[in-house]
Amino acid sequence: MIVSDEEKACLDGRRGDANRLAMELLVEVGRSFGAARLIPITSAHILGHFGSLHQAGIDFLGHLVKGGGRCAVPTTVDPSSVDFDRWERFRVPADYRDRQKKLADLVDALGVIPSWSCTPYCAFNVPRFGDNIAWAESSAVAFANSVIGARTNRTPFGLDVCAAITGKVPEFGLYCDENRKGSILFEVTVTDMSDLDYHTVGAIVGRRSGFHVPVIKGVDPHVSTDRLRTFGAGAASAGSVALYHMMGVTPEASMADPFGGRKPVETIAVGRKEIEAMEETITTAPRDAAIDMVTLGCPLLSLQELKDLAGRMQGRRVKEKMHFWVYMAEETYRHGKGLGLIQPLEKAGVWFSTGTCATISPVKVWGFSHVMTNSAKCALVVPSEHDVAISYRDTDECILAATDPV
Ligand code: F3S
Repeated sequence: MIVSDEEKACLDGRRGDANRLAMELLVEVGRSFGAARLIPITSAHILGHFGSLHQAGIDFLGHLVKGGGRCAVPTTVDPSSVDFDRWERFRVPADYRDRQKKLADLVDALGVIPSWSCTPYCAFNVPRFGDNIAWAESSAVAFANSVIGARTNRTPFGLDVCAAITGKVPEFGLYCDENRKGSILFEVTVTDMSDLDYHTVGAIVGRRSGFHVPVIKGVDPHVSTDRLRTFGAGAASAGSVALYHMMGVTPEASMADPFGGRKPVETIAVGRKEIEAMEETITTAPRDAAIDMVTLGCPLLSLQELKDLAGRMQGRRVKEKMHFWVYMAEETYRHGKGLGLIQPLEKAGVWFSTGTCATISPVKVWGFSHVMTNSAKCALVVPSEHDVAISYRDTDECILAATDPV
């Protein structure tokens, strides 16, 4: 592996202890993946939630901060495990809150933009086509690679911070042209896809793609950005999709043959039957089982989705003893308030939470047994975190389950 003079200076410790350790790890990972060199990145997006990183995360970040580590490129952070403004309402144990606070302080010390959002591409960290970036968070990675045409692997915790500090990544995987070609084809035959269908088709693509890069044909070329966000989140959580090409939609599929002249290894039809089957697979609760909690906002709710929710909720209020929790980024909440969207919903009994989400916060303390959501990612991941049964339904059904007419 070629190592430049500047990278050697890092390895020799001439740029401080944090840079030395970060560079050592990047070079080691690069060697093990057969990378020929390190390449510069324009941004990073790191993980910072205590629910996944635990004490090891605190120790690692603490070591880097002590060694003088600071972000060399604009860097944002994924949601935290705690909403610091509302932790008591959400019954977060104080010691858990304290440990997340330690992580947050270390993230601050590294000079990370405290976005606490899994949709960094909506604000503060917006890459351009062809940019090399080092992002963690599978749904954001799928969006950045596919919808924007930036380049990143699914960067794991640890390596994400090393990349942020050095501004470099080893060049392998999706940084290389040859690995970005499509190799499996999905033909969508449904022409009237709903919001939920985008989550579900994403999950089908994720589950059936294996390590292939999927190409999707048959999707409305005017599909909204929100639907692409949810599609990618479904694909990334049901499988390991980090890049997809959507014919007539995503840039690399629009500029050239996404298969690069090769034939797909398989062609898979996705129609109403397959979508319904996947919905059934994702739902684990019996249809009439009592619901404890309904949650929206995975990926974190966009302003447009908030507007849509406010419209659908008119004339309704949350049922007694029901929990209806909606997650979004802090700036979305602030703009939602400015637009007068938040206040009526709060009055109707909706609980908003910012900078965290149902999957990575300690929801388990509530002892819920049945959660309903309109997100394939949330439905796929929450059961393993919180030991609950899941109902996976569209937004209207979620609202019906959580609320009554006034
Ligand atoms: Fe975001 Fe949490 Fe879902 S980090 S993608 S809202 S699991």
